[in-house]
Amino acid sequence: MTTRPYVLLSCAMSIDGYIDDATTERLLLSNDSDLDRIDAVRAACDAILVGAATVRRDDPRLLVRSDRRRAHRVARGLPPSPVKVTVTGSGDLDPKARFFALGDGAKLVYCPTGAAEKTREQVGEVATVVDVGESVTPAAVLTDLAARGVCRLMVEGGGSVHAQFLTAGLADELHLVVAPFFVGDRRAPRFVGDGRFPWHPGRRARVVEVRQIGDVVLTRYALSDRCDGG
Ligand SMILES: NC(=O)c1ccc[n+]([C@@H]2O[C@H](COP(=O)([O-])OP(=O)(O)OC[C@H]3O[C@@H](n4cnc5c(N)ncnc54)[C@H](OP(=O)(O)O)[C@@H]3O)[C@@H](O)[C@H]2O)c1
Repeated sequence: MTTRPYVLLSCAMSIDGYIDDATTERLLLSNDSDLDRIDAVRAACDAILVGAATVRRDDPRLLVRSDRRRAHRVARGLPPSPVKVTVTGSGDLDPKARFFALGDGAKLVYCPTGAAEKTREQVGEVATVVDVGESVTPAAVLTDLAARGVCRLMVEGGGSVHAQFLTAGLADELHLVVAPFFVGDRRAPRFVGDGRFPWHPGRRARVVEVRQIGDVVLTRYALSDRCDGG
């Protein structure tokens, strides 16, 4: 049996736990140094996953920015940037979104059978649409990614996908950055909503690193014994 990919969750939030505000503008939580750190983490992964709402709202590129890191990947026989991955239940994705339009690497879209036709109509020419059956689960996505040779997956949000990997017990490591301000608006999305998480007062996660990066703080949590803290 193929080992499931190592799963690293990455999130930036405000002091009061929001990952965005309630405006239509994208909220910048990280600073330049932290964005460079994230670039290094991306460069060390085989695939990056975000939810379809993040594709629609943030229109992220999800490419390795640094020339040096891209060259290093190519020298190792890898594509310049990791495979881009998203999940959708609606198929409501724009082929002109930067997720699809930028970068020559593979783009994978996981959807349930009920949305497969619409998803293929929308983005079938710019991505590989994977019908995973009745519903999309983190386990099904990981099984398929493993079969495609993905050993290390970075999950960059939003909250819905983070919550699913966490509650399924399918996360190995969490990089949580706290920005030094409050959002203070309950209409804004939080890191995760309600759920039965494997880490609770009776089972605390292990902190493997705390690092100040300019005005933000990164905490790295080990969420499984696959995370060695290195
Ligand atoms: N601060 C950060 O680090 C960070 C990082 C990323 C995003 N964000 C923010 O997070 C917010 C978006 O988060 P979100 O929780 O609303 O959305 P999300 O997790 O980005 O995406 C949710 C969407 O993904 C699809 N999806 C998720 N799980 C699925 C499943 N099991 N089966 C089928 N489809 C599934 C659905 O798409 P369909 O609607 O197409 O069915 C769902 O509406 C944005 O405000 C963004 O700015 C913040």
